[in-house]
Amino acid sequence: LRSINILAIESSCDETAAAVVNNGREVRSNVISSQIELHKLYGGVVPEIASRKHIEKINQVIEEALKEAGVTLDDIDAVGVTYGPGLVGALLVGVAEAKAIAYARKLPLVGVHHIEGHISANYIEHPELEPPFLCLVVSGGHTHLVCVKDYGKYEILGRTRDDAAGEAYDKVARAIGLGYPGGPKIDRLAKEGNAEAIKFPKAHIEGAPYDFSFSGLKSAVLNYINGCQMKGESYNPADIAASFQKAVVDVLVEKSMAAVEEYGMNKFAIAGGVASNSALREGMKKACEEKGIAFYYPSPIYCTDNAAMIGAAAYYEYLAGTRHGWDLNAVPNLKL
Ligand code: KG4
Ligand code: ZN
Repeated sequence: LRSINILAIESSCDETAAAVVNNGREVRSNVISSQIELHKLYGGVVPEIASRKHIEKINQVIEEALKEAGVTLDDIDAVGVTYGPGLVGALLVGVAEAKAIAYARKLPLVGVHHIEGHISANYIEHPELEPPFLCLVVSGGHTHLVCVKDYGKYEILGRTRDDAAGEAYDKVARAIGLGYPGGPKIDRLAKEGNAEAIKFPKAHIEGAPYDFSFSGLKSAVLNYINGCQMKGESYNPADIAASFQKAVVDVLVEKSMAAVEEYGMNKFAIAGGVASNSALREGMKKACEEKGIAFYYPSPIYCTDNAAMIGAAAYYEYLAGTRHGWDLNAVPNLKL
C-alpha cells in the first residue's frame, strides 16, 4: 500500500485545528488553537466570534501542522476537512481553506462528517481496532450510539432527544457556579463528593431503548438547588456533581451495554469530549470487562475536537473513493 499523507482541517466549533496524518493512523502533527478563553467570557461559544477567530488563525495553524510534521504541501496526497455538522460560519472557514489548498495544489478533496472524525480518533492509538464495533459518541453537541459496520458505514442506533451529554455537564456546571466548559470541572469536583447523596432521575424512553434524554436530569439538578435555596438550606456542590455524574454515566453504560448485547459486538469504543470523563471511562471499562469484550477510548487530546481524527476518517474515505468537488459546502446539520 502506498503511503498517503493527509492534511486535515477542523473548524466546526471553537477549535481551529490542522494535522498531518499518514495512512490514517500515524499522526505526524496535530495542532489545535483553542478559543475557549475567548468564549469563556460569555459562558459558551459565540458563533460569530468563532468564525472570525478561525479566519485569523487558520493559515498559521496549517503552517505549523506542516512544519511540525516535517513536510511541505508537496508531500501531501489529499486534503480532508470537516464539512458538518457544526456552526455554519465556523465550518465555512475550514471548507473554504481546504478547497483553496486542494484546488491550488491539484489535490483530492475529502469532506468528512465530524462524528465520523470522533469515532475514527480511536484508530489512532489502537492499531488493532477495526470495524465492526459499537461506538458511543458523547460531546458538547452530540450523543450518538453508533454501530460502525465497516469503514465509512454507520448505523445510528440511538441519539439524544434533547441536550447532548456534554451540554448537560456544561449547564449543570454553570448552575453550581463552575465556569465554562464545565465537563472537566464537574469531573474533578465529583471526586470529592458522594455519588449516592442525591437520587437524580435516569431517563428511559418508551420504545426507543438506545435514545437518550438529559434535559430532565438537568432540570432536576436545577430544582434541587432552587429547593435548597428556598428552604434556606445549604447544598454541597461536590455531592451534586458526583450524583449528577453518576446518573449520566449509569445511563450511558446501561444503554451501551444493552446495544452491545443485542448486536452481538465484541468491541466497544467511546469518543468525543465527554469520553475523557474519568467516571465514564471507569464505568465502561468495568462493564466491558464483565462482558469480556474489548474496550477502546482515545487519549484526551483526541477526545476533544482536533484535526488528527479528521485525518484518520479522511484516509478511509479516501481509500473508499470519496472525492468532493469545488462545490463542497458547509452542512450545519449533516447526517451521518
Ligand atoms: O468533542 P468536543 O470538544 O466538542 C464537540 O464536538 O461538542 O466536546 C466538548 C464537550 C464539552 O461539553 C465539555 O464540557 C465536555 O466535552 N467535556 C467533558 C470532559 N472534558 C470535556 N465532560 C465531562 N468530563 C470531562 N472530563
Ligand atoms: Zn466534536
